[in-house]
Amino acid sequence: MSDIHDTVFPGDFPGREDKIKYFKEISSTMDVARELAQTGCPHSTVVIADRQVKGRGRLKRTWVSEKGGLYFTLVLRPQLSPLESYKVNFLASLVLAKTLRQKYSINAGVKWPNDILVGGKKISGILSEMETQTDRIDYINLGMGINVNNDPSGVEPKATSVKKILNRNVSRKDLLTDFLNEFEARLCTVATDDVIFQWKQHTVTLNQKVRIVTHHEVSEGIAIDVDQNGALLLAQSDGLVKTILYGDCFLV
Ligand code: BTN
Repeated sequence: MSDIHDTVFPGDFPGREDKIKYFKEISSTMDVARELAQTGCPHSTVVIADRQVKGRGRLKRTWVSEKGGLYFTLVLRPQLSPLESYKVNFLASLVLAKTLRQKYSINAGVKWPNDILVGGKKISGILSEMETQTDRIDYINLGMGINVNNDPSGVEPKATSVKKILNRNVSRKDLLTDFLNEFEARLCTVATDDVIFQWKQHTVTLNQKVRIVTHHEVSEGIAIDVDQNGALLLAQSDGLVKTILYGDCFLV
């Protein structure tokens, strides 16, 4: 029976032991993953921490990382061009939403670009960093924060966790294993799969009125589609359709 004090040890992942780098407490799994990636660690190395003291979110936000959550960064070296790298993030959010639905009967959906929501509340977020060499990807570090046995609602009222939804603790090891198995299998064919089409089957963003916030502008409109490059198409009140490449999306 797992509880909030369970720990994810390399030995919990038969066949992957060498690629699991576990830390009880760390600044951010992104920092360690970057060092490992730059010194040549293999594809699919996973840096996991029970706690992060400097957890990072998108757009320079903090990701509060208390014990009980699942915080990891996956070092990936996919056979993709840098222009196709967006597919990796969409695949990760799609696979996590499907894992939560299929294994835990949690009604998870994806919000553009890569958040996972349940009942309008965030259960997981993704941050990625990429290094390229001219026309190929050297590495993509995919950082995922999943609220599992923690309760994030004290610091972020619009967040939830697996425990809050199911009213019990679950094994973080099982959740991570299920996610990794499915994600890695699907990553092999991500170049040719229509990931965006599949992602759209699980999204809570389309046909909604949304506000998109970036560092320098705020746009509002109806989210009418996500194009083949992962950009959000926003129908504005002036009749124009704006293509949004990045930003924070709020349902209004
Ligand atoms: C977001 O929604 O803003 C993205 C959050 C990403 C958080 C994860 S936790 C593991 C990895 N390490 C970090 O410092 N951030 C990512």
